[in-house]
Amino acid sequence: MAYKNLLLESADGVATITINREKVLNALNDETLTDLSNAFDECREDADVRVVILTGAGEKSFVAGADIRELAKMNPLSAKDLAYRGQQVLAKVEHMGKPTVAMINGFALGGGLELALACNLRTAATTARMGLPEVSLGIIPGYGGTQRLTRVAGPGVAREWILTGDMFTAEEAHRVGVVNRIFPPEELLAGTMKMVESILSRGPIAVRFAIEAISRGSNMPQREGEILESDLFGLAASTEDMHEGMGAFIEKRKPNFQGK
Ligand code: CAA
Repeated sequence: MAYKNLLLESADGVATITINREKVLNALNDETLTDLSNAFDECREDADVRVVILTGAGEKSFVAGADIRELAKMNPLSAKDLAYRGQQVLAKVEHMGKPTVAMINGFALGGGLELALACNLRTAATTARMGLPEVSLGIIPGYGGTQRLTRVAGPGVAREWILTGDMFTAEEAHRVGVVNRIFPPEELLAGTMKMVESILSRGPIAVRFAIEAISRGSNMPQREGEILESDLFGLAASTEDMHEGMGAFIEKRKPNFQGK
């Protein structure tokens, strides 16, 4: 599919989606949300894609938020629609069922950080800056930030980040658990790929079940989440991958998972 505001490349099981509006620091306008929605559909449907990396074009920005020139025209009803639409697209990112990594190469602000929070994992350049500055524009986060930041880093961190609207360093984001790993900018891609290669070497069905148990389970009472876990644990025991993984351990060799 042809995209106006993003690039989609795929090789060796890894799709890389690069948001490509460098002149406006990759801000998310309506067209870009449509592109993102279609690109994640394409990646979900493509059996050759096993992991998705999401990043921003250029060295300065991952995504500097929703496009403020579009937001400036909002009235109450269109603002509600805009937030609902962004939430739908980010829900698609969150629930695509394959591992997703936001590789934060620069500013991740507002809707940009919200997009990164919808991914399963986040890596960042040490030079990246992130935050939810919406209150400085007289609005609140509208693409799920109040909910996902709270779930990822806890209500204390979410309150500080959202109420101050301040920008935080990658080191601070790492310290409070907003990002999983940080790397000097020149090592960001290699460091992210190392994490991705670990995931690619594991049982593909098991990885997908683990994502489902964590994502769906985090919105359930613990006991129900544990029942979901035992159901998926049982389903994993029906796969050839389980026999391959355990057989390889016993025979002291590397597993050759087929995703079956
Ligand atoms: N929307 C539209 N355009 C944006 C943008 C955004 N979110 N962020 C940056 N740009 C544009 C600038 O307007 C500028 O365009 P022009 O050259 O045409 O003037 C260009 O990108 C470069 O930006 P700056 O000149 O501002 O670059 P800088 O290095 O001086 O500052 C920055 C960088 C600190 C990231 C600053 O651009 C900034 O504060 N951007 C806005 C960040 C923001 O508030 N994001 C939240 C948006 S609200 C939201 O996302 C709501 C939601 O939850 C859904």
